[in-house]
Amino acid sequence: MADILLGITGGAAAFKAVTLVSILRKSGHTVNTILTGAATEFITTTQISAVSGMPCYTDLFSKESTAFIPHISLTDNIDLMVIAPSTAHFIARAALGFGDDLLTAAFLACDSPVVIAPAMNTRMWNNPAVQSNVNILSSRGINFAGPVSGQLACGTTGFGRFMEAADIADICFEILKNGEVE
Ligand SMILES: Cc1cc2nc3c(=O)[nH]c(=O)nc-3n(C[C@H](O)[C@H](O)[C@H](O)COP(=O)(O)O)c2cc1C
Repeated sequence: MADILLGITGGAAAFKAVTLVSILRKSGHTVNTILTGAATEFITTTQISAVSGMPCYTDLFSKESTAFIPHISLTDNIDLMVIAPSTAHFIARAALGFGDDLLTAAFLACDSPVVIAPAMNTRMWNNPAVQSNVNILSSRGINFAGPVSGQLACGTTGFGRFMEAADIADICFEILKNGEVE
């Protein structure tokens, strides 16, 4: 069974991360979670913890103990890191190597396979800055799950929709299988 770290960013699809956490947990995996500050505008740590059965983290600076450095402890010996849904903002910060919040610092500290599942408006996805950042991350071995075409939160239909949680989970399972973690 795998140790998975799931980062959830502040997009309209953030609530769908609850389904993904549920699928991963029901498959027997341990799922630790991080919400960005913007993600907490869309969902709560309580919602996520209730499904994961684990604490949900938001802060780079832990108030509990200096022995627990969240971005390091949460990425020690994990089998997979998943960012779902991922905003354009996270993709940009990851491509540039920012580490000024818990999720970006954890991404920098992670030496395990990573899956990013973007979700955003079609015009945002098509923006050359976003495409360039996706290409940078792909060239570094980061896996992308979606986006797919379909109905978007903004009311339009097009490319940029969050891939179904079950399909993202299947991609995660395939990566874990290839790494011989099942
Ligand atoms: C209602 C609303 C919905 C949003 N949905 C998305 C989205 O689906 N994808 C995206 O990339 N940004 C979206 N944004 C913009 C992000 O919230 C913004 O870029 C934020 O800084 C992301 O921070 P984070 O990447 O640290 O979570 C949305 C903003 C609002 C107000």
